[in-house]
Order: sequence, then structure tokens, then C-alpha cells
Amino acid sequence: MLYLYTPDQPELYSRLLQEALPGEAIACWPQEVDTAAVTHAAVWAPPAGFFSRFPNLRTVFVMGAGVDKLLQRNEVPQDVALVRLTDAGMAQQMTEYCLIGLLRYQRQMDRYAQQQRDRQWKPLDTQLARDVRVGLLGLGELGGRVAQDLVRLGYRVSGWSLRPRWVENVRCLHGEAGLRELLPQTDVLCCVLPSTPETRRLLDAETLALLPDNAALINAGRGSLIDETALLERLDAGRLRFALLDVFAEEPLPESHPFWTHSHVIITPHVAADTVPEEAARQIAANLRAQAAGRPMTGVVDRRRGY
Ligand code: NAP
Ligand code: GLV
Repeated sequence: MLYLYTPDQPELYSRLLQEALPGEAIACWPQEVDTAAVTHAAVWAPPAGFFSRFPNLRTVFVMGAGVDKLLQRNEVPQDVALVRLTDAGMAQQMTEYCLIGLLRYQRQMDRYAQQQRDRQWKPLDTQLARDVRVGLLGLGELGGRVAQDLVRLGYRVSGWSLRPRWVENVRCLHGEAGLRELLPQTDVLCCVLPSTPETRRLLDAETLALLPDNAALINAGRGSLIDETALLERLDAGRLRFALLDVFAEEPLPESHPFWTHSHVIITPHVAADTVPEEAARQIAANLRAQAAGRPMTGVVDRRRGY
């Protein structure tokens, strides 16, 4: 039996999963079931103690791309496979989100907004896409697709990953030395990295200082990637043009946080790339069938790496 827990549209997910898996027994929280019959769970943000109810759990499907919260809780037994969504409709949204910041930078919408406030009619120098150096942190399912989309639109894209990667027409760098090479040559830095012990506060005062003056920052990965105090200091010093932030160290962003009112910060409430229910259900169903047939599943999390 597949047991579903999602705070968001549980009826819709139940229906879509049942349609995608017609022969499968599917139940949804808080339905009472024979817990021993549950072999698979599909979850987003389940309550504490959720997994311990199911002694015969084999696989947990996470209904999102990131598994940091679940891994931190350390409640999914080691012998249970943890499987996340790969793209599933999120990659295009991630490109769109990065483009919001990228176009704001390239077409100087932040500067024109200021000029409008000042009632100033002053065309600024044209900047073409090919003049903008994009640094993409993360070249996985989402970052890899963002890189390809941005290349197609004419931007000069460099990407960074843990292991060596190859993406057509993207300068691919990896590891510590790669980051140090990428940052000084970046006008717009887009973060699409997972939260792991290694990526925590990757962008601190020291690494942020490697960016050229007047660069812009987009974070759609996780809030833990950035030392928020260091980011504020850099913005306040006028060294960073703006930051477009979707994710934060604490979510929801506390009411008293200085980001809310900062004139060079744009905030969205963790919506850069939302799970698409139809795609999620399709992918979970395909993985469940693959597992039953002894074929590999997509999106199996490597718990040692943490993503
Ligand atoms: P993914 O396929 O696992 O890709 C992760 C990328 O990050 C890979 O390129 C990986 O390198 C790289 N990476 C991981 N640790 C690294 C390190 N220490 N140093 C350098 N590179 C490192 O994940 P994804 O599906 O693209 O998703 C990425 C993240 O986006 C998710 O984990 C989640 O946090 C975030 N997300 C946010 C939203 C939102 O709405 N804001 C929505 C969906 C996802 P390798 O290629 O070498 O493995
Ligand atoms: C959302 O942040 C996700 O990880 O899917």
C-alpha cells in the first residue's frame, strides 16, 4: 500500500496517484489503515513520528526536489529508499525565476525604477544578453536545465557543481578552486544548490567578496547557503546591486527581518519552483512500477552526499 501525506491538496494528489496507479491500494493521511500493509509513502513535510508507524516501509517518495529537512530529521530508516522528484515540471519554473532577476539586472529595471521615482528620463547604455556573465551554482536536474535555457537565450553561462560536469556551451567548473574561479567572473549569481553540510553558508563574507562590485544575487536553492548577515553587509556597503531571494535561513521569514524592508532585496515566499501535482504523480507512479519490475528508479537520494 502507498500512504500519502501532503499538507497541500491531499485530495488532488490522492486522485492523481490513484489514476496513475489503478491497481495500487492508496491511502491518505489521516486515514486509518493496517500500518503493516504500507510499503511505500509519498510525503511532503510529514509530522514527527510519521515513518515509525509503518514497520514494512520500503520506499519514501519525497514530493519535492530537496530532501534536506527530511534528512535532518533522521527519521527514515537507513534501509528505506529515499526518492525525490527530478525536474517534474520544476526546471522550467526555475529558469523563469532566474530570468526575473537576470532581466532585472540586464535591462536595468532596478535603475529605471529609481529613475521613475525621481521622474528622470534617462536612457541607460544597452546591455545585451551576451554581455551578462551568469554564474550558476548547481548543475543538477534544475541548474543543468537553467544553464541550457540561459545559453539558448544568449547569456554567457558558467556553472558549478561538486563533480566535473559537461553542459553544452556552458563553462563547467567544480570544487573549491572552481568556485573561486567562477565568482570573480560573475555578474549575476544564481544559486540552485541543495542544502547539505558542505553547502551551508557557502556564500559568506569571504566568498561574497569575490563577486565583482555591482553583481546581483539570486537564491532559489536553500536559505542555508547564505550567511544572511554577510549578505546584508555587502548590500548596505553598496557592493551588491540587488538580491532576489526565494529561500531563507528561517521560513517563513520572521517579521522583524531586515530583508523585508531593504530597498535592494526582493523577496518571494519559497515559490521559485513549485511541485506540479500531475508531474509528481506521474513520476512517483513510474518509479513505483520501475521498482516492482526490478528497474532503477530516478531520483534516488544518496544519503552520504546529502542530496
Ligand atoms: P540535484 O539534481 O541533486 O542537483 C544538485 C546540484 O548541486 C548538482 O549539480 C550537484 O553537483 C550540486 N552540488 C551539491 N553539493 C555541492 C557542493 N558541495 N559543491 C558544489 N556543487 C554541489 O538537485 P536539483 O533537483 O537540481 O535541485 C537543487 C535544489 O534546488 C534542491 O535541493 C532544493 O534545495 C532547491 N529547490 C528549490 C525550490 C524552490 O522553490 N526554491 C524548488 C525546487 C528545488 P553534482 O552535479 O556534482 O552532483
Ligand atoms: C522545494 O523547495 C523543493 O525542494 O521541491
